[in-house]
Amino acid sequence: MSLLEINGLRRSFYGLEVLRGVDFAVEAGGITGLIGPNGAGKTTLFNVVSGLVPPNGGSILFDGREMAGKSPDVISRAGLLRTFQVARGFPKLSVFQHLMLYGRDQPGENLLTAIFGSRAAREREVELAEKALETARFLRLDKLIDNPATALSGGQKKLLEIGRALMAEPKLVLLDEPTAGVNPTLQNEIGERLLELPKRGITVLLIEHDMGFIAHLCDPVIVMAEGQVLTQGTFDQVRNDHRVREAYLGKRAA
Ligand SMILES: Nc1ncnc2c1ncn2[C@@H]1O[C@H](COP(=O)(O)OP(=O)(O)OP(=O)(O)O)[C@@H](O)[C@H]1O
Ligand SMILES: [Mg+2]
Repeated sequence: MSLLEINGLRRSFYGLEVLRGVDFAVEAGGITGLIGPNGAGKTTLFNVVSGLVPPNGGSILFDGREMAGKSPDVISRAGLLRTFQVARGFPKLSVFQHLMLYGRDQPGENLLTAIFGSRAAREREVELAEKALETARFLRLDKLIDNPATALSGGQKKLLEIGRALMAEPKLVLLDEPTAGVNPTLQNEIGERLLELPKRGITVLLIEHDMGFIAHLCDPVIVMAEGQVLTQGTFDQVRNDHRVREAYLGKRAA
């Protein structure tokens, strides 16, 4: 069984079909790429899979459970986390506070606190703080841990966004353009961090426009165009597929 299985997923906005029956699967343990021209529906797909936008039809099986139409809260608790194309957050909070905030909402936590009272809560706080430090160290943000998030560079904000997802110990993360607008050095750095995730038991599905980055990190690569999956394969396979070239060039140019 695949970790994520999507079948016949559909979503329209104002009568316009943006997802027109999306089918694909993501196997556990690797980094899968999701590419396609602007407007193909990639971000919309992430919005639907993460529960932000309900689908009009189709199925999203995650870890054997149907998630179509479930709330983001239920989906993230099941171990499916996403990041945003444009980093979101609370400008006044420090890096550390950001990480603590997103590590909090673990399953069973309220029950534990209710039963064992403040001691368990304090222990949990210490545990979370250690995890936040470890996450910051892993992402090489530890020297900046007390800085406000606004003081971070664009690339460091992207890393913090990834850290936020990691704090919840996900099984699968959906990363929407994790290196968009980032300089090449930091892009390499982010790539190296992402390559570590499968080793930590985290499967990755990522959207990116930079083909060098996709080639270096992702296998397989899924190609979306006009709200459907066009093809999938290794980077070289999809690169040499004439339908993919046509999708990027636009039908008239092909
Ligand atoms: N909430 C919404 N309301 C109306 N239209 C929407 C909404 N969300 C997405 N769309 C439309 O869906 C289409 C696909 O957009 P989407 O953001 O999913 O593309 P994308 O593949 O992520 O593109 P890019 O590579 O440029 O980020 C676009 O035409 C967009 O305008
Ligand atoms: Mg997008």
